[in-house]
Amino acid sequence: MLLTALLVLSLSRCFATNYFQPEQIHLSYGASIYDIVVTWTTYSDCKSTVEYGIDEYERPLKAHGSTTKFIDGGPERRVMYIHRVLLNNLTSSSKYFYHCGSDLGWSALFWFTTPPKDESKWSPHLAIYGDMGNENAQSLARLQDEVQRNIYDAIIHVGDFAYDMDSDNARVGDEFMRQIETVAAYVPYMTCPGNHEQTYNFSNYRARFSMPGDTEGLWYSFDMGPIHFVALSTEVYYNFNYGMKQLVKQYYWLEEDLKRASEPDNRKKHPWIITYGHRPMYCSNNDFDDCRQHSTFVRSGIPFLKWFGLEEMFHRYGVDLSIWAHEHSYERLWPVYDYRVLNGSISQPYQNPKATVHIITGSAGCSERTDPFTPIKPEWSAFRNSDYGYTKVKAWNDTHLYLEQVSDDQDGKVIDSIWLVRERHEAFDNLDHLD
Ligand SMILES: *[C@@H]1O[C@H](CO)[C@@H](O)[C@H](O)[C@H]1NC(C)=O
Ligand SMILES: *[C@@H]1O[C@H](CO)[C@@H](O)[C@H](O)[C@H]1NC(C)=O
Ligand SMILES: *[C@@H]1O[C@H](CO)[C@@H](O)[C@H](O)[C@H]1NC(C)=O
Ligand SMILES: *[C@@H]1O[C@H](CO)[C@@H](O)[C@H](O)[C@H]1NC(C)=O
Ligand SMILES: [Fe+2]
Repeated sequence: MLLTALLVLSLSRCFATNYFQPEQIHLSYGASIYDIVVTWTTYSDCKSTVEYGIDEYERPLKAHGSTTKFIDGGPERRVMYIHRVLLNNLTSSSKYFYHCGSDLGWSALFWFTTPPKDESKWSPHLAIYGDMGNENAQSLARLQDEVQRNIYDAIIHVGDFAYDMDSDNARVGDEFMRQIETVAAYVPYMTCPGNHEQTYNFSNYRARFSMPGDTEGLWYSFDMGPIHFVALSTEVYYNFNYGMKQLVKQYYWLEEDLKRASEPDNRKKHPWIITYGHRPMYCSNNDFDDCRQHSTFVRSGIPFLKWFGLEEMFHRYGVDLSIWAHEHSYERLWPVYDYRVLNGSISQPYQNPKATVHIITGSAGCSERTDPFTPIKPEWSAFRNSDYGYTKVKAWNDTHLYLEQVSDDQDGKVIDSIWLVRERHEAFDNLDHLD
C-alpha cells in the first residue's frame, strides 16, 4: 500500500517535471529593429536556445538566452519558465527560419523577415488594435491569414489581451499566448498594458512579453523606419494600488524621450512620432469610462492638481498620431487640442494638421462585445463605428502616412481611411502663434 503510493508519487513527479516542449512562441524588437527577441514558455526548467539561419533546412546560427521562473499570483501558484533569446546582428532584407527550445524539445519551424538596410527608404506596414481576448477574438483569423502572407512588418496590441491573463490561475494567459503564436511567431508583437492586466501588479504581462527598455514593457520607445513609436502605460493614471511612483517615473521618462526624438537629427531620421496607450484622452462612447469626462486623467493630469497630463506635452513635441483602445469600437478624431478642432484646412483637415490626431481602435474582439456611441457625435469626432475590426497603418515616407480601418463584421471591408500628411514635423505650439 505504502509502496504503491510511493511509486505513484514518484512516477507522477517524474511526468510532472517533464514539460520541456516550447509553446507560446512570440517575437519582439530588441534594442533596434535589426535585433529580434524570441520569447516562449515551458513548464519545466530547461535551457533557452534558438537555432536559425537564412536557409530553411540548415540553420547554422545558434543563440543562447535566459530562463526565468515565473510564479503566477493565483491560489495554485502555477509555475512556468519564460525563455528569452536575443538574435542580434541580423542581416537586412532577409528571411530567417528558426526554431527554439533546447535539446529536450524543439518548437515548430517559424520564419521572420528583417527590414532593409536603408531604413529611410522603408515604408513599414503595421496592424494595430486593442482588446482582443482569448474568447471571441474576432480579428484573429484575418490577421493570421495576412501575417502569414507576409504583408505586415509588425503588430501592435494596445492593451487588454486575454480577459484576463491571470484568470483560472493564468491558464487563460497561456491559452491566449498559444493562440497569438500564429501571428506573433512571425512578426514582432509589440504591446502596452491595459486595465485587464493589472492583477498582481501586471505580473503576467511583465513576465510574458519582452519589450525594449528597462521597465518590463510598461513604457518604452523604438524606431521603425520613419516612425518613432512610444508605448505608454495609461494604467499608471488609474491604478494607484501600486503607488504613484510609476506615474511620475513614466512622465519624466516620456519628456526625455520626446525631447531626444525631437532633436533635429533624430526627427529628420524618424519624423513620425506615434504614441500608443490603452485608455484614450477622448471618446464619445455611450458609457461611463473616463474618456467621457472633460478632464480625462491621461489628458489633463490627476484630478484637481492637474499634474502629469499628457495632451499638452504631445502638443509641445508635435506628436503626429496617438493610438488608443479600451473602448470596444473605432473612432477617428479631427486634429484636436484641448477640445479645439485644429484642421490643416477645412477641405484638407489632415494635411498639415495643427494638432495631434487621435484614433481609438479597441474592437478586435473579446468577451465584452463592442461598445455603442452617444446619439450625437461631438464636433471633434470625425468617424465612429462599432464593428469588430482593426487598424492598418503604413508610413509611406517622411510626409505621407496612410491609415485604414478594417471591419470583421463586413468580411474585411475597409470602412474608413485617411492620408495624414505633414510636410514639417514640428511642435504644434509654435503653430498656434501663426493663427
Ligand atoms: C555580424 O555578422 C557579420 C557577418 O555575418 C560578421 O562578420 C560579424 O563578425 C558579426 N558581428 C558580431 C558582433 O557578431
Ligand atoms: C509593481 O511593479 C513595478 C514594476 O516591476 C515595481 O517597480 C513596483 O515597485 C511594483 N509595485 C508594488 C506595489 O509592488
Ligand atoms: C474640420 O474639417 C472637417 C472636414 O472638412 C469639417 O467638417 C469640420 O467642420 C472642420 N472643423 C473645423 C473646426 O474647422
Ligand atoms: C510620399 O508618398 C506619397 C504617397 O505614396 C507620394 O504621393 C509622395 O510623392 C511621396 N513623397 C516623396 C517625397 O517621395
Ligand atoms: Fe480596457
